[in-house]
Amino acid sequence: MKRHAGAMLSSIKIDKTAEKKISIQLYMALRDLLLTGALTPGDRLPATRTLAREIGVSRTTVIDAIDRLISEGVLVARVGAGTFVSDALNERLVPKSPANAKDETAPPPRLSHATSHAIPDFAPRSRLPHNSQAFVTALPALDAFPMAQWAKLSARHWRKDRDHIAGYGEPYGYMPLRRAIARQLNASRGIRCHPEQIFITNGAQRAFSLIGGMLVNPGEPIWFENPGAIGARNAFVAIGARPVPVEVDEEGLSVEDGLAKAPHFRLAFVTPSHQQPLGHVMSLSRRLALLKAANEANAMIVEDDYDGEFYYGNQPPPTLKSIDTQGRVIYVGTFSKSLFPALRLGFALVPDGLVESFERVCLTWLAGIPTVTQAIVAEFMDEGMFATHIRTMRQLYKHRHDTLIETAASLAGDIDLQPTSSGFHAVARLSANLDENRLVSAAEKQGIITAPLSRYSLGKITRRGIVLGFGSCATDDIIKGVRVLKSIVPEC
Ligand SMILES: Cc1ncc(COP(=O)(O)O)c(C=O)c1O
Repeated sequence: MKRHAGAMLSSIKIDKTAEKKISIQLYMALRDLLLTGALTPGDRLPATRTLAREIGVSRTTVIDAIDRLISEGVLVARVGAGTFVSDALNERLVPKSPANAKDETAPPPRLSHATSHAIPDFAPRSRLPHNSQAFVTALPALDAFPMAQWAKLSARHWRKDRDHIAGYGEPYGYMPLRRAIARQLNASRGIRCHPEQIFITNGAQRAFSLIGGMLVNPGEPIWFENPGAIGARNAFVAIGARPVPVEVDEEGLSVEDGLAKAPHFRLAFVTPSHQQPLGHVMSLSRRLALLKAANEANAMIVEDDYDGEFYYGNQPPPTLKSIDTQGRVIYVGTFSKSLFPALRLGFALVPDGLVESFERVCLTWLAGIPTVTQAIVAEFMDEGMFATHIRTMRQLYKHRHDTLIETAASLAGDIDLQPTSSGFHAVARLSANLDENRLVSAAEKQGIITAPLSRYSLGKITRRGIVLGFGSCATDDIIKGVRVLKSIVPEC
């Protein structure tokens, strides 16, 4: 005797205030009953009219949900008899849902050696920020982005030749974008290069993984600034590299310390234009010493120029790549700061000697980047909108920076904020009686986001402080944020 499924259906709960369509909620609830075995092959569903009445939804909604399950083959409609759970839904083939699965004897899924070694070594990092508030780091001024211009360009590209925009894209990156980047690097970063040296990636992060995977064997040492960039470090840890924490001072990475700790380094990761997070510009003598050390060790250098466009003096900070005469530097750039991070667009500029290997890897291994996104950015650059945007943002960030520095003068003695000459975050030193983590969590409770310096440490660091981003917050929010910091100092 086959069961009538009416009783079980009373467990279905529909939330009419939820964003999800009611028919989808009903479809998912029925599917769960089927997958958890509450409904079994041969069970008959009540008539759609009855179901609609019992659940309190329209009959069209019920029909819509049931039609989906019929088209998936888990229900069958028999003319004159009703709707039944399909016999094809053999119980033995249906996995238990995670909610019901209590089988603790099942072995955990196996990870690769590289991943299981890497996971404990990953530096802690929560989701990167997506909302503009005081004092999130890493986020540009989303409020000032010329979205109308962008939308117009975007619409224009979607109407172009379909083969061009919808087929598989160019594996090394869309050539007009590679050309536009080469021109931009030449004009504003002092780098002479040709477009064939530029490989477009899913953000700088992907460039780091690609470089790591291509140049470093598991266990080989990589010099890392300490404190330093968290995401980049994670990318290299993931491929099994051994990060070596190297000291940083006002002149940038200490080559002497690096040589003392790992003279046979395979790669050095640096942020010479704006040390992440301390903000120093690497001195010329350090740059030359680093290039010499790399030459002698036959190592490569990754230069991460993540926010070099935003400088507040008369001159942009110099790039390391512009004085690299031996092809030691791979320069990595991103559009996450100059445009916006959700684009997931970055690039690696590789020395001539590596071009062929990069081509081979990109051609055979990488999935590519959406062509339209690249085409929009290329046109944005070619038509001068990029340069205009950067100029406007430079002024805006300077204004936000100056507001922060002026307002934060009221914190002096407890929280000493250092001005920065570029980028859109600044570092504050803390007085000896303030606890870094207590300050960060007290601020967070009041809706103010700051990052402790310890978050960027790879090994021991003696500095204590907090990092404040000012790129994405309006001046009013900056002023309010500083007020909050002042109010919590006594309790930290
Ligand atoms: C040091 C550093 N480099 C690069 C990036 C950009 O990475 P992506 O291009 O993957 O967004 C960031 C982002 O915050 C960063 O902090």
